[in-house]
Amino acid sequence: MLGQIDAEIKERGGIEAYQSASTQGQTSKRGGDSSKKLVEWLQSDTYKEKLENVNALEIGCLSPRNFISTCGIFTDVTRIDLNSQDALIMKQDFMERPLPQDESEKFNLISCSLVINFVPSPKERGEMLIRMTKFLKSPKNGMSTLFMVLPLPCVANSRYFDNDRFLAIMKYLGFHQTFYYEANKVAYWLFDWNGKRNSGTKFPKKELHSGSSKNNFCITIS
Ligand SMILES: C[S@@+](CC[C@H](N)C(=O)[O-])C[C@H]1O[C@@H](n2cnc3c(N)ncnc32)[C@H](O)[C@@H]1O
Repeated sequence: MLGQIDAEIKERGGIEAYQSASTQGQTSKRGGDSSKKLVEWLQSDTYKEKLENVNALEIGCLSPRNFISTCGIFTDVTRIDLNSQDALIMKQDFMERPLPQDESEKFNLISCSLVINFVPSPKERGEMLIRMTKFLKSPKNGMSTLFMVLPLPCVANSRYFDNDRFLAIMKYLGFHQTFYYEANKVAYWLFDWNGKRNSGTKFPKKELHSGSSKNNFCITIS
């Protein structure tokens, strides 16, 4: 199966063509850049007082010209991607990024838009969420916020996952939802982190919704 997918990617122009097509999908003409929603939320009354001297980490960055980088809110945006196509995006696997040694190496905001669904297994997706908490600044030191975007079918049409399950996992990791928006094809969340990640409870894969038309998307914490 993997061989077949690799062959198809090659036939369509390889990973560079894929990244380039995804980047073009983000241009405003194509209605793409999800960080527009993030910036709209950050400019609301809930956040506008907290925006002094804030930095951001964009995981899975396709363009340094996205709204998150051009809005002028962040003093600094660190951009990483597994397959960087731009000198301003560091080629790096977030799961391999060295853990911060102190607060100065952490971020006020992490953006993770349409990335978790890219991660191969439910277990690795859960590990990625846990790892994000290690990169967020303590809420005592200002804004400590996570922007998440997933394809809507991940929470609206999965056999093993839905929004309630996602919010239960996020709550367990110390996150509280401040904004949510459901578009036709994608769902957006903004979460504040309280600095306290729980441990002990497990979120295994279990069937929540039955039906042959359901997909198998899932995030587990073990
Ligand atoms: C569908 S694109 C989405 C990009 C963009 N954030 C958006 O919202 O349109 C997913 C990107 O996530 C990147 N990605 C997936 N897993 C990653 C990881 N572990 N570390 C860094 N980037 C990752 C992929 O290389 C890909 O470019």
